Parts: sequence; C-alpha cells; structure tokens
Amino acid sequence: MPKSKFLAELLGACTNIFSPIRDRFNQVGFFLVRTLLWRVRKPRYGILLGPPGAGKGTLATQLAPALRLSHLSTGDVFRREKANNTEFGKQVKSHLANGTLVPDALTLAIVRKELCRPRYWFGGILDGFPRTVPQAEQLELMLAHWGASVEFTVSLDVDEADLIDRLSNRLTCTNKACGRSYNLKSEPPREAGICDVCHAVVAQRDDDVPEVISGRLQTYRTETQPLCIYYQDRDVLVFVKPTGDMTKQEVFVLVKAALKG
Ligand code: AP5
Repeated sequence: MPKSKFLAELLGACTNIFSPIRDRFNQVGFFLVRTLLWRVRKPRYGILLGPPGAGKGTLATQLAPALRLSHLSTGDVFRREKANNTEFGKQVKSHLANGTLVPDALTLAIVRKELCRPRYWFGGILDGFPRTVPQAEQLELMLAHWGASVEFTVSLDVDEADLIDRLSNRLTCTNKACGRSYNLKSEPPREAGICDVCHAVVAQRDDDVPEVISGRLQTYRTETQPLCIYYQDRDVLVFVKPTGDMTKQEVFVLVKAALKG
C-alpha cells in the first residue's frame, strides 16, 4: 500500500476513535464552564405586585432599564404563546380569556425556562409573577439554587375605581414587539385604532371587559394579596400608593425613592 494512502487511512481511523471523545469533552467542558459562570454571576431579582391595572407593566418598562435588568411579564409571555398557537399557548388560552390564574405548575415551568435565557443573565424585574404563595415558595427555591434571592418587592396600591377606569379604557397595540398601551379617554392614539409608534392595530385585550375585570380583581384579592405579607416577613417589601392624579413619571420617581429609602 502506498505510504500516503496508509497515512490517510490511519488519520481517518484516529478521527473516528477520537471524535466522540472530543465531542464528549467539549460537552462536559461547556457544561462545567456554564455551571461555574452561573455560580459566579450575581443576578438580581425584583418583583412588582399589584392588582390588574395598577401599572406594573408601565413601571417595569421604566424600572428595568434604570436598574439594568430585563423585564419579564408572565402575562406577555402567555399572550405571546397564545398568539403563536403553541402547545403551551393552547393550554393557557381559556385562562387568559376568563381572567383566571394559569395553574402554578405551568406558570413555574415557563418562568424557569424564561429566566434561563441569556437576557436574564443579570436578573430581572418580575411583573405579574409570583401570584400565589406556592409560586413565591417555588421561586424562592429556584433562586436559592442559583445562589440568589428576591432583592425587593414593590406593591402598587391603586384605588379600585381608578383600576376599573384604566382597564376598561385601555387599548393595547397588537404588535407584540411594541405592546404600547393607550387610554381611550386620557391618552388615545393620534389616529383612531392605529398605534402611534409602530402603526399596527390597537385593540382591547380580551380580559379588559367589565365581567372579566371584576373576576381578575377578586382573584388578586384572594390569591395574590397574601404575598404582601409573605414578602413583608422577608423584609423585602416596599409599599407604594400613587394617587389617581399622578403621572407615570411621577409614580416611577416615587418608586425609585421608596427603593432607595
Ligand atoms: P397580566 O398581563 O399580568 O395582567 P394583570 O396583572 O391583570 O395586569 P395588567 O397588565 O392588566 O395591568 P398592569 O398592572 O401591568 O398595568 P399597566 O401598566 O398595563 O396577566 C394576564 C393574565 O395572565 C392573568 O389574568 C392570568 O390569567 C395570567 N397570568 C399572568 N401571570 C400569572 C401568574 N404568575 N400565575 C398565573 N396566571 C398568570 O397599566 C394599566 C393601564 O393604566 C395602562 O393603560 C397604563 O397606560 C395606565 N397607567 C399606568 N400607570 C398610570 C398612571 N400613573 N396614570 C394613569 N394611567 C396609568
């Protein structure tokens, strides 16, 4: 056999033997490095609590960049899954329409998946999660496993009449990447039914109708409000009560001051 052919065959045989070992080594190495990095990162997590329409989403979009954290809204994630008609979206569809809570196990599975995404490397502002004591307990366990904990919780308290007025007059941009909200009375889009920012259609959310709004408020009182005591006991709760005439910017300033104090 010519020498060059013999060498080529030998090289081929070596590659066949060593490739799986090298691949395995890469996998294990990658896993170890990722685990190590995961341990040394110092992610920060804050929670926004409040009834529907309290302004959690509005505040999160101001607070997240100010604290250099990413915004995670479970409601937005569920609506995105529903719009994409995923398996998960199909399971949460009726809960979104009726304003009832998505079961804890499903919610926790999606939150865990989201928080493992690179955009939450430094942590996140959790808007609308947790909403039940079991969710809060599971979050605590999950964060403890990552060497982290909830750093702060802001509870937004707004008068019920203002909540109902805001929600029943809210229009939301249907473009999920934009999601800007408007108020039909105080802040309507410049052109009726069209988003000022991205020109997509603006529409009322399925759950922003009176019969669903009252159920959402009731669910908040029974399921979510006990979390104020849960986080007060852990000494990470700040309580903010913006008056109805405060602008979004004024609420943001109030919350920032409360967090510093
Ligand atoms: P989600 O989308 O989280 O709805 P929500 O909690 O009911 O809250 P909203 O988004 O309606 O209100 P918000 O507090 O964010 O207020 P916003 O900033 O928009 O959840 C939807 C559904 O998903 C739930 O019903 C449930 O089925 C499910 N779900 C979500 N998380 C879950 C979980 N953890 N477990 C189980 N199920 C879950 O503001 C409201 C309006 O007020 C806006 O128009 C805004 O422009 C305006 N506004 C805000 N601030 C001011 C101000 N200072 N002055 C005047 N207007 C203001």
